[in-house]
Amino acid sequence: MPGLVEGDDRRLYALKWSGAAQGRKALVAEVLAGELGRELGLPVPELVRIDLDPVLARSEPEQQIQEQMRASGGLNVGLAFLSGALNFDPLCFEVDAALAGRVLWFDALIGNVDRSWRNPNLLVADGGLRLIDHGASLIFHHHWPGAAAWTRRRYDAGDHALARFAPDLAAADRALAPLATAELFATAAARIPDEFLHDEPGFESPDAVRAAYVAQLCARAAGPRDWLPVLPDSPR
Ligand SMILES: Nc1ncnc2c1ncn2[C@@H]1O[C@H](COP(=O)(O)OP(=O)(O)OP(=O)(O)O)[C@@H](O)[C@H]1O
Ligand SMILES: [Mg+2]
Repeated sequence: MPGLVEGDDRRLYALKWSGAAQGRKALVAEVLAGELGRELGLPVPELVRIDLDPVLARSEPEQQIQEQMRASGGLNVGLAFLSGALNFDPLCFEVDAALAGRVLWFDALIGNVDRSWRNPNLLVADGGLRLIDHGASLIFHHHWPGAAAWTRRRYDAGDHALARFAPDLAAADRALAPLATAELFATAAARIPDEFLHDEPGFESPDAVRAAYVAQLCARAAGPRDWLPVLPDSPR
């Protein structure tokens, strides 16, 4: 669970802990995929860097949160907190086929396994859908030597939270594929903090890791995009 914190800008953020069990890679995916989604025009809340002083743990009464704060001193990732947001439930909300298609296309691009109807990681705020929690995407970065195979891996949309809304994947592909360029990937990768990349085994520098992410995403986006899921009633 993220923490709810107030930043020194007096705004509230959902803080993704750097000391959480999922580790740094989850934060890298959160930033890279989240910024990519924003660049593609999808409704991902603003992402920020949060410097957490672990001394704050001293006045935290809950022991588990105290430990989380101690383990997460330094740089963390924050998502603008959406006050009054509801968790999306596919049985309670409607999503139009065009938006469902764009979200599904994006999830297929980043290989997001965390958007099932059981755990959609979608919020509804101000009447609209918001995309959160991309920490479980881009899983190739857990094993760089096998990363090339990931670029062709088909996305399984069987359990996807938006599968029931007749996602218009063909329209999404027409709209988003031309935007998914090396420049756009590089813009998103530039926002990954150096601190999360500098000790990646097999890479000489944070920029070398960023370049590897960009190459992976370029290879996947360039096509043939047969990693797009096949949907019932879909022409693909
Ligand atoms: N930016 C936000 N604004 C409002 N609520 C949020 C925000 N981010 C997260 N939440 C709330 O916290 C919950 C968990 O957030 P998130 O999915 O990012 O964390 P998680 O550690 O993956 O938790 P889980 O394992 O439950 O998915 C969300 O379902 C939502 O209720
Ligand atoms: Mg989640």
